[in-house]
Amino acid sequence: MHKDVQEILFTEEQLKARVAQLAEQINRDYEGKELMLISVLRGSFIFMADLVRQITVPCKVDFMAVSSYGKGTVSSGQVQITKDLSEDITGQHLLVVEDILDSGNTLSYLLEILWARRPASIRLCTLLDKPERRVKPVKLDYAGFSIPDAFVVGYGLDYDEHYRNLPYIGVLRPSVYGGEE
Ligand code: IMP
Ligand code: MG
Repeated sequence: MHKDVQEILFTEEQLKARVAQLAEQINRDYEGKELMLISVLRGSFIFMADLVRQITVPCKVDFMAVSSYGKGTVSSGQVQITKDLSEDITGQHLLVVEDILDSGNTLSYLLEILWARRPASIRLCTLLDKPERRVKPVKLDYAGFSIPDAFVVGYGLDYDEHYRNLPYIGVLRPSVYGGEE
């Protein structure tokens, strides 16, 4: 285990099993349709890569990047698009793939932008959900795991751009970001 990680929440094996279940649900729900998966960078890149390889309905992928955190552990509520989609999404069935839903600021803002472009439908898929921290209500269609209010890293999730490479999801030691243990 990495020295900055206090506790492992989900092992590689647990993540793999849950991602397969989510994909199964998605495949069932989108039978007969074509899907456009939209990965919200950068945190969801590993989840997206694992998920898409289990998707069996016809699908396309695109990427979007937003920033709301800067160097910190609390969302600022100010969301900016730093990289926009490459594809036209009009009339498409979108599945937005996120790493974690926290305050809900990022996703609720993103949804507004995406709906304005007139897709046929939008559903949300997040690997992790921290329901206790919600400020803006967001309806989740697919959620991997619900977690308590702790700052987690690994499997794509970062603190100050580090730890994305850890194959598991773990709680970051609060001392790393100047909090109390
Ligand atoms: P929200 O706008 O507060 O819902 O924050 C969503 C974004 O904040 C996620 O896509 C993550 O990039 C980031 N985030 C929220 N909680 C965590 C965490 O515990 N670890 C790492 N990133 C997080
Ligand atoms: Mg992030």
